[in-house]
Amino acid sequence: MPLKVKILPSLLGADFGNLQAESRRVETAGGDAVHLDIMDGHFVPNLSMGPDVVRMVKKAVLIPLNVHLMLENPEAFAETFMDAGASTVLIHIEVKSDVRSVLASIRKRGIRAGITLNPGTPAEAVFPVLDLVDEILFMTVQPGYGGQPFRPDVLPKIQTLRRRIAAVGEDKDIMVDGGINRDTIAACASHGANCFVAGVALFRAADMAAEIKLMRQKAIESQI
Ligand code: DX5
Ligand code: ZN
Repeated sequence: MPLKVKILPSLLGADFGNLQAESRRVETAGGDAVHLDIMDGHFVPNLSMGPDVVRMVKKAVLIPLNVHLMLENPEAFAETFMDAGASTVLIHIEVKSDVRSVLASIRKRGIRAGITLNPGTPAEAVFPVLDLVDEILFMTVQPGYGGQPFRPDVLPKIQTLRRRIAAVGEDKDIMVDGGINRDTIAACASHGANCFVAGVALFRAADMAAEIKLMRQKAIESQI
């Protein structure tokens, strides 16, 4: 049975002057969760939003909040984002922190834990933490900015991880983030991804609901 396909609009592509209204638009359009990109200017060369934005979005919608921490020191902030209303907290495998202990602390609160890999990081890097995560996020661009082109060189890594997970008889969500749109989603699904983050492709679409529906359909048709 293929895993449920989820489409997660990334608020980084939204109108920052109206983030609550934009979050409601995601919910009304059929988005499965709101993806929030948190950047610290160190782990990535950009700044984006903080816990107050997560709190504000939490008040606006009922769908889950998928919080992607692009932070050098996630241990210092994971708790704050969980308090703010995160349903999932994703951290990066490349950080120098004790990743296992941060993931365990997220799960201890009954919140979904996720691990993220940059395009240059091999799939095998996350094998030692798979027992502690509910979802694995493959960056299909170098993180930091929306609107970059999709990197097809990440596809074989997705396949490697899906096979590894299947070999141990587990079901875990595999997500992709960066340059995902109606043209790139099928390849990700056929390599084993089942959750799709998209910023500009959804927020700049003429009709977000129709675009979500189209992307969902393409993913379901290509799923392995
Ligand atoms: C990039 C972020 C993404 C970003 C994707 O660092 O992690 O979530 O919003 O944006 P698009 O879909 O526009 O590439
Ligand atoms: Zn993201």
